[in-house]
Amino acid sequence: MKLPIALPIILALGIAGLVQTQGSAEPVEDMPKEVRPLDAFMRRKLELSRETLQGIVTEDFPLIKRSAEGLEKMSRQAEWEVFRLDEYSHMSAEFRRITRALAKQAEKKNIDGAALAYMQLTMSCVECHKFTRGVRMADVKPVKK
Ligand code: HEC
Repeated sequence: MKLPIALPIILALGIAGLVQTQGSAEPVEDMPKEVRPLDAFMRRKLELSRETLQGIVTEDFPLIKRSAEGLEKMSRQAEWEVFRLDEYSHMSAEFRRITRALAKQAEKKNIDGAALAYMQLTMSCVECHKFTRGVRMADVKPVKK
């Protein structure tokens, strides 16, 4: 699959997505107490997805694979399960599917495929955060740890 024109657009979207995720981040002080210890964990997702983007723009396939697998691993950890809600589980499953696709594209050294999967990854970050904010506004309490 060749997508020479789509690639810069995808990367721009990806960067915009990351900036948006970061820019709209609620200040730590405003976060409900029970979530604050999760901050470092959640921010690690941003680090790993930046590494993925770095891997894509520098065609560093091992870096893409490593960071995608790191993200997948994170999504299996207990800290990930902030809400025990069906939609949250579905979005987590979708996130895992995308990280696996990303790792696979890296294995195949398919840069366009990896860029496309990266765009999907970014959309999944944004989708779940939109959902999470909605749930917060409805004042659903996170799972107690
Ligand atoms: C399945 C849901 C889900 C997905 C997918 C997801 N996140 Fe999150 N993210 C959360 C939850 C839940 C929080 C905690 C915020 C809260 O509880 O209000 C969070 C918080 C964060 C925070 C901390 C925000 C802050 O205010 O400090 C960052 C950064 C973050 N996520 C980055 C990412 C990135 C980057 C991706 C995609 C690679 C991603 N997330 C994908 C659910 C998700």
